[in-house]
Amino acid sequence: MLTTRFTDTLGIEHPVVLAPMDFVAGARLAVAVSAAGGLGLIGGGYGDEQWLQDQFAAAAGTRVGCGFITWSLARRPALLDIALAHQPAAMMLSFGDPTPFANQVRAAGVPLICQVHTLDQARQALDAGADVVVAQGGEAGGHGVGTRSTFTLVPDVANLIADRSPGTLLLGAGGVVDGRGLAAALVLGADGVLVGTRFWATEEAVVSGGAHARAMAAGGDDTVRTRVYDIVRQYDWPAEYDGRLLRNRFIDRWHGRESALDAQLPEAAAEFRAGASEEDYDVAGVIVGEGVGRIGEIPPAGEVVRRMVQDAAARLGR
Ligand SMILES: Cc1cc2nc3c(=O)[nH]c(=O)nc-3n(C[C@H](O)[C@H](O)[C@H](O)COP(=O)(O)O)c2cc1C
Repeated sequence: MLTTRFTDTLGIEHPVVLAPMDFVAGARLAVAVSAAGGLGLIGGGYGDEQWLQDQFAAAAGTRVGCGFITWSLARRPALLDIALAHQPAAMMLSFGDPTPFANQVRAAGVPLICQVHTLDQARQALDAGADVVVAQGGEAGGHGVGTRSTFTLVPDVANLIADRSPGTLLLGAGGVVDGRGLAAALVLGADGVLVGTRFWATEEAVVSGGAHARAMAAGGDDTVRTRVYDIVRQYDWPAEYDGRLLRNRFIDRWHGRESALDAQLPEAAAEFRAGASEEDYDVAGVIVGEGVGRIGEIPPAGEVVRRMVQDAAARLGR
């Protein structure tokens, strides 16, 4: 219905890709998206070998890909060997220079997808030989650079690709939760979309009922980009990255007061850990993007793919 260069190249039906959301995008969700005609990516995240092996085993028989956080993968590069041994449908690298891993991915005959947030990062991805570039705007849930919006970054990267590497494919990401978003991304010059938040809010996502309920009650104004959770989790994110999630009492207390948070880290980190284990979302994080305000239910992921594509096709007159 919405055939693009991306669907032709990847051999799939719909130009809709599940974002590799850390532990949220396990085998069940990735398989559901691929089975519905999109492309599911298992969330390799920061890298947990046993979890990764389990997800590939559970997804056996369905074509799924995988995605890693690049700066974290650089510390445990053997995880890439493990993932590539499963012949994934695609390998996505986000957040860091993909160059050191690009040859290995392509030598395995696996399409390389690189997520970028700026034009400089897009040039770096093209130089590394990315088969697919994901242009992620700051509306997105989760990590990014946040200086650009999807509405301007996608056409800028489309123009860059047309000038420098016309065979490279482009996905838009950030704020795409329905057919309007998919149709808009295609009109802006993308060959498809990478979707996180909308699939986070599905039956197959590994998300607690409490987090889902919190997000269903939230609007598009209720998210914020912050480094607060990376500080309390003591994750070594490079300085240019922050992450978008739902505002809550804990973030409101510390966002903008990061130096004070550093000074009180042991107590704040203990409070965060307790909140996370008790599923107290006034403290624990709910990672979603600005599109959350247009999500009102938790359907099966295949239903999301079908509705998104049907609505986009109707809007585009196809
Ligand atoms: C809960 C959550 C976790 C995420 N984790 C990752 C991740 O581990 N690796 C990654 O490349 N992107 C991750 N992302 C970002 C996505 O790749 C994507 O850019 C984003 O979800 C697109 O915006 P949207 O959420 O508005 O659809 C995550 C996003 C969310 C919502």
